[in-house]
Amino acid sequence: MVVIATMEAMSILACLILGILIPEVSTSAGNQWTYRGSLGPDHWHLDYPHCGGVKQSPIDVITDDVIIDIERLTPVVFSGFDVVSSTAEFTLENNGHTVKVTLNDKKNQIKGGGLPGVFVAEQFHFHWGATDSRGSEHSLNGNHFPMEMHVVHYNKKYGNITEAIDKKDGLAVLGFFFEVGRFNRHFDEIIHHFQDIKFKNDNVSIHSIPLVQLMPAKLLQFYRYQGSLTTPPCYESVTWTLFNQTIEIAEEQLEEFRTTIFENDESEGGVSIDISDDFRPVQCMHGRRVYASHSSLKFPKNPPPNNSKIVQENPTSSASIITPSVLVLALLIVTIFRM
Ligand SMILES: *[C@@H]1O[C@H](CO)[C@@H](O)[C@H](O)[C@H]1NC(C)=O
Ligand SMILES: *[C@@H]1O[C@H](CO)[C@@H](O)[C@H](O)[C@H]1NC(C)=O
Ligand SMILES: *[C@@H]1O[C@H](CO)[C@@H](O)[C@H](O)[C@H]1NC(C)=O
Ligand SMILES: *[C@@H]1O[C@H](CO)[C@@H](O)[C@H](O)[C@H]1NC(C)=O
Repeated sequence: MVVIATMEAMSILACLILGILIPEVSTSAGNQWTYRGSLGPDHWHLDYPHCGGVKQSPIDVITDDVIIDIERLTPVVFSGFDVVSSTAEFTLENNGHTVKVTLNDKKNQIKGGGLPGVFVAEQFHFHWGATDSRGSEHSLNGNHFPMEMHVVHYNKKYGNITEAIDKKDGLAVLGFFFEVGRFNRHFDEIIHHFQDIKFKNDNVSIHSIPLVQLMPAKLLQFYRYQGSLTTPPCYESVTWTLFNQTIEIAEEQLEEFRTTIFENDESEGGVSIDISDDFRPVQCMHGRRVYASHSSLKFPKNPPPNNSKIVQENPTSSASIITPSVLVLALLIVTIFRM
């Protein structure tokens, strides 16, 4: 318990330190960004100032802190998600950051569920890890899932995604977590085209799939909060819906994501770099709250494992003492650097 309380205090402290740092610079002129290195998430705000905002995504959902709001969070009403269009196809694309599927007809719409309007599905894409222990952008009580799918919708009143993308009520994204399990034949209709989109900017037309087949069966239980795009330019325009039921996918299917899709284009030659670990770290809440559509979604974190007693009996352990001093030191160094 001591350790957990300290960790929470530390994450608040880290948010405060970041809060001091972020308003700082906005100078470099590039428009490249990555998940690693000098153009990685810690630097996005330099080129894309919205990324340093106070309503950023993803977040860690702390289930004990959610507010149950059954009256507002009625079921999301889906229309068109069960029909397969014989004419319209999907465009499957490797954009160098993710695998993205664009819906070419605008037939899939959602409303209800406390959403501020009617929203039209535009595209869906994935965030996955190099191993099963990571990959999702959002986390639940600090735990990540091996993959997360985002179905991106724009508010119909804005007409298209370009108009909606930076409006406060512009986007609604449905987030789904994956768990390793049985082979998922619906996703295989996407995965088996991966050979055609190995490199950045590759795209291929594929038959459309009724989206309901890609989603879990139970959609009544979800979390809701206000946040942002999880990639630059990080506009704070997203009403987030994170569903409780997960999607099952086989390990070998996750391996296809991990080993077939590269972030470089073919012409770069040499060694190809896979896109795995294309997730942004969780962001500070800055006072925001997460709402839940069902009372079972509010529950305490798993109690700490029994061996935590050992840590508590040993107050000089590194977790409880050294790390906060490292943070204070970091703050000092940063302050000195800025002077
Ligand atoms: C989006 O809508 C705006 C306003 O109606 C229009 O000017 C623009 O061309 C549209 N963009 C696309 C990509 O369709
Ligand atoms: C797909 O790739 C082709 C050839 O590179 C390109 O002309 C086209 O604009 C791309 N389509 C989409 C939807 O990105
Ligand atoms: C879904 O809810 C159950 C409790 O009802 C919980 O054990 C589980 O961790 C939740 N999963 C997600 C992804 O929210
Ligand atoms: C922790 O200890 C209790 C009793 O001391 C035991 O019942 C429980 O199974 C233990 N839990 C774990 C995760 O080892």
